[in-house]
Amino acid sequence: MTELHIVGQPLPRPDALDKTMGRTKYVNDLFLPRMAFAGIYYSPYAHAKIEWLDKKKAQSVPGVITILTAQDIPGKNFIPLIKDDWIFLAKDKVVYAGEPVAVIVAENTDAVYRARDLLEASYEELPAVFDPEESLKPGAPQINPLGNLLSYHKIRSGDIEKGFAEADVIVEGVYETGYQEHAYLETQGFLAEFCGDEGIRILGSMQCPFYVQNAVSSILGIPQNKVQVIQSPTGGAFGGKEDFPSLFGGLSALAAYKTGRPVKLVLDRRDDIILSSKRHPSKSYYRTGAKKDGSLTACEIRVYLDPGAYATLTPSVLWRCAVHCYGPYRIPHLKVDAYAGATNKAPCGAFRGFGTPQIIFAMERQMDKLASALGMDPFALREKNCWRTGDTTGTGQVLPWSVGLFETIARAQEMSGWKEKRPQYPLTVGTKKTGIGCSTFLYGVGLGAAGRKIDKAEAYVQVKPDGSVFFAVGTTDMGQGMQTVLTQIVAEGLGGIPATKVQMLPVDTTRVEDSGPTVASRATFISGNALLDACSKIVRKMKNAASELLLCPASSLKLDKGFFVINHDSLRTKEDITREMPFEKAAEECFQRHISLCEHGFFDSPPSSWDPETGQGKAYVTYSYATQIAEVEVDMETGEVEVKHVWAAHDVGKAINPQQTSAQIEGGVIQGLGYALMEALVVDSRGRIQNPSFATYIIPTTMDIPEIETAIIESPYPEGPYGAKGFGETPLMGMAGCIANAVAQATGLDITRIPILPESLLES
Ligand code: MOS
Repeated sequence: MTELHIVGQPLPRPDALDKTMGRTKYVNDLFLPRMAFAGIYYSPYAHAKIEWLDKKKAQSVPGVITILTAQDIPGKNFIPLIKDDWIFLAKDKVVYAGEPVAVIVAENTDAVYRARDLLEASYEELPAVFDPEESLKPGAPQINPLGNLLSYHKIRSGDIEKGFAEADVIVEGVYETGYQEHAYLETQGFLAEFCGDEGIRILGSMQCPFYVQNAVSSILGIPQNKVQVIQSPTGGAFGGKEDFPSLFGGLSALAAYKTGRPVKLVLDRRDDIILSSKRHPSKSYYRTGAKKDGSLTACEIRVYLDPGAYATLTPSVLWRCAVHCYGPYRIPHLKVDAYAGATNKAPCGAFRGFGTPQIIFAMERQMDKLASALGMDPFALREKNCWRTGDTTGTGQVLPWSVGLFETIARAQEMSGWKEKRPQYPLTVGTKKTGIGCSTFLYGVGLGAAGRKIDKAEAYVQVKPDGSVFFAVGTTDMGQGMQTVLTQIVAEGLGGIPATKVQMLPVDTTRVEDSGPTVASRATFISGNALLDACSKIVRKMKNAASELLLCPASSLKLDKGFFVINHDSLRTKEDITREMPFEKAAEECFQRHISLCEHGFFDSPPSSWDPETGQGKAYVTYSYATQIAEVEVDMETGEVEVKHVWAAHDVGKAINPQQTSAQIEGGVIQGLGYALMEALVVDSRGRIQNPSFATYIIPTTMDIPEIETAIIESPYPEGPYGAKGFGETPLMGMAGCIANAVAQATGLDITRIPILPESLLES
């Protein structure tokens, strides 16, 4: 491999200064002439018939322009996603408290909210179901036209009875996890503009502009070439802006289309929490068997995710949950059943980890319980069973490369002083007890076999005559740092020119072809590869031009640190040494000679496969791995858990920007800490969220943040750009597992539920 100049450097984020100086314009900072404002009126009931809706009083509020309902939709009243069951505006029936029923458009937001209070409606409440297991029982209220079983996946491998017969020790557990709200700093928001015959242009805060484009095209009944979607700078998303922007983007487009005016729809925090998706709550039943020496023989898992009322992304979330629920371990006999039973609650959706933090918590608790039953160190048990290069997964996939799991275990142990601490703990000082716990886990990079159809990407690169560079991709930066990473990949792909010469264009559905969603830790991998394809075409053309001027064959030229230089091997005379041409000069030369330096690049995801009958196949193209360790102090008198120290070792293939990689890990660790210990969304017995604010839904603050030490393991993935594989979700994923294991060691309690709130710990 050639020496890298830009990739692997801790370069600053190109967007950092504008953001810290407050210069970045988020959607709510944008104003257009004649702009109107919109808000959503939504159902107060979890399950009800809409008897009537009377707009008169609301309409009479000064400043109200129009109030739109399902009848006003010119196109189709559904949001195209996996199962097409999700509607924009409820018509005869509502299936969750918070389901949009009408859009109010007015001259100002005061009028919007006053009109919303005055909108009169009558509902007939219907019996509701709030538990996904109950939802699948005979006689449960039917709430979705697809039936209540919104998704089911299974894995069958080996012979589960035989596996348990071979086991010397069997442990069982039932685990429950709660909601998690994304809590992005910027709430959901769109600005839609009606552009006459050109159609609709919309700007907004989102992960997946092409999803929004499809949604707008669907609700308005206009072709895709009349819908331009531009991503505005996005202040956090974490999966929460994968699905719901289609709803909000569609409704803002409807408002603009109907009024002929630009319309801004930005949710306040309360509406955002009530209306939008969250992490699926879960309940899982585990049974795991091992021999005396610790080798796993069998694992039987039944898991229920709570999807809410519509399927939205649940079939994919549940599939990822099923594929990951037995961990990165060799288990010869495996049986997994995963169910999503519809409930009368807001649809759950994507959230960093996508159905895996729930079951990593469960599986890692199982591993610790098994270790103590066997009298083994928790890591010894994991090392005994964890995948290494060449192993086969529980779905029959051979792992030919890039399995850095074992190294993550080694590094995390070493950094944390595990070997000395674990045997000495729990330590007791006064009312406080200290424990240490670990988790090891994997993440399938990209959409995998479930999303194979849309797993591709296009990119565009343009070198200007002065040697500066523009590029465009179809994936988005929502704060995770994709712009930084892709800028470095382009700078490297163009021969190591300074990254400051490279500019990413705003993501816009008119620039490149549908590149799929920005999810599943896929952006670096998929857009990075597409960009490298474009860069290599450009370099080839520039080499040809340079070779003519340097009077040498193009094959003897190499592009190195921004210079076309003649290869040492092909030097004939001493004066050749001085024969080199700066990148800028070659760019200028191409411009003069009418050689285009605009290129499109494309990348198609490598093959994956899945047999739904057996749950066997090459589920994902590759996997990222990690080991996390938490040291906690539990106050036995108050039940409070303080995380003192976290060590996180992550196999990322290649860190394109090591500083950003570490920062990404730290951010995820904190988000995972909140999930494990404090984030509790309270839903009352009628399905209404009781704490839609950050005063009552508690997330970590700086005061809660422990010492975090990170380690980057680079086990290169040959199909990734410079060996990189996506890892952005992993830092959150293992935290509930390692914190729960640490709390279990400290207290001696079997931790089976998260969040581990002080009151629930004291009750145990
Ligand atoms: Mo991400 S949770 O795959 O939007």
